[in-house]
Amino acid sequence: MNPASGPQTVLIEVIDVPSPRIVYLNGAFLPFEEARVPIMDRGFLFADGIYEVSAVLDGKLVDNAAHLARLDRSLAEIGIRNPHTLAEWEKLETELVARNGVSEGLVYMQVTRGVAERDFAFPPADTPPTVMMFTQGKTIVANPLAERGAAIVTVEDIRWKRRDIKSVALLAQVLAKQVAAAAGVAEAWMHEDGLVTEGSSSTAFIVTKERVLVTRPLSTALLPGITRAAVLRLAAEEDLRIEERPFSVAEAKDAAEAFYTSASAFVMPVSTIDGHKVGEGRPGPLTLRLRALYLDIARGG
Ligand code: PDD
Repeated sequence: MNPASGPQTVLIEVIDVPSPRIVYLNGAFLPFEEARVPIMDRGFLFADGIYEVSAVLDGKLVDNAAHLARLDRSLAEIGIRNPHTLAEWEKLETELVARNGVSEGLVYMQVTRGVAERDFAFPPADTPPTVMMFTQGKTIVANPLAERGAAIVTVEDIRWKRRDIKSVALLAQVLAKQVAAAAGVAEAWMHEDGLVTEGSSSTAFIVTKERVLVTRPLSTALLPGITRAAVLRLAAEEDLRIEERPFSVAEAKDAAEAFYTSASAFVMPVSTIDGHKVGEGRPGPLTLRLRALYLDIARGG
């Protein structure tokens, strides 16, 4: 296959890593090579931890307060004490972004239940959580995929029942994303009983032929996407008809438009689902409008 065309090219998503790369671990900014976590960390042993991802645009954090609120909630749901106030988190993130010279990309934050002898139940209450952050430089706005639309595949959702918690236990998503990668596409939408739950790392939306914006309502079945919430606010301001209801894979394939949202993709148009063209097989007008509106507010901070 010509590497300059075809679905394979969507996988070329360049992650910029500065040299030296500075990361944050348990109170210190360190060169990446010096940041070490003990093998008894419960994140490593049990995936006993929570993470968050905020976008960086023009060197500034996007919708960060909402991401930090979700981090706080996820930690509370699994009984890990939040080691920082929201203001402290934001200060640490801002410093990490500056130290790595990130103008566009991501900040990744992770908190695990800390290091303790392997035993399933919680360790002693005074066990300090492990706190880690790193950045990745990434082109989000000028992503060529957004211009032609992302091809996606669908896979069964095999996850646990608390998908509203942003847990680091992402094996099902890793397997879903690998199905997408093997098919040469960027994302996989997961479904349960024929109904789309969400993308492997995104929220799923469709626009019906009657121009209704549809996305699944929040519940324990999916992550409460921060970009989802912003897009729904924008759509309401635009007086779009919105239905928060489950939709099937068949309905998505038959929709006028489809897109997915996340901190790392913003609003990403979908061109095909399992090889079926959605609408004209290119980004739809409503999707492009929402993407443009989202970029405006993301730039506004
Ligand atoms: N993922 N659903 C899932 C399962 C996700 O992992 C994500 C984000 C979203 C979108 O949420 P938000 O709009 O708040 O980014 C929905 C991040 C980007 C990740 O895992 O890298």
